[in-house]
Amino acid sequence: MALLEILKYPDKFLKRSATPVAEINDDILELIDDMAETMYDEPGVGLAATQVGRDERLIVYDISEDQEKRQYDVLINPEILSQEGVFVTEKEGCLSVPDFKANVKRAASVTVSGLNRKGKPIRLEAEDMMAAVFQHEIDHLNGILFIDRISGLKRDMYKRRIKKQLRKKSKKK
Ligand code: NI
Repeated sequence: MALLEILKYPDKFLKRSATPVAEINDDILELIDDMAETMYDEPGVGLAATQVGRDERLIVYDISEDQEKRQYDVLINPEILSQEGVFVTEKEGCLSVPDFKANVKRAASVTVSGLNRKGKPIRLEAEDMMAAVFQHEIDHLNGILFIDRISGLKRDMYKRRIKKQLRKKSKKK
């Protein structure tokens, strides 16, 4: 297993829409293992393949408090079939958007479908935090970051801060 590099905003790759997985082969299984390892290492509660520079539609997640147990799940070619209600996440964050948190308006419950690592079709219902993680990670596969879902004012503040940091970095070089 290997730790993967997580792409950070404003990397353009994060804006692309990922391609459905056609076959769950050894390459995909290795990617899943590496993504899980990377997620626990950070640590994070979810990770989409797009964030590690891969074009496949797949996500790993584990929202359990005790991450020592390491019982993550994977959803390949995930899709939100339906969503209902409103749930505002508190201090939502993202491994690709460092040092920034915001409350994000999400659906309160979602029904998602996809394949497990054995290729078996599954359908899941999730609420609140779990529903938010599905929405956040599936957004990644569609090239959307959580900062795209907050008020323009807050987003601009963050973008300005990152631009400043990048300018400082390039001056040092
Ligand atoms: Ni994220």
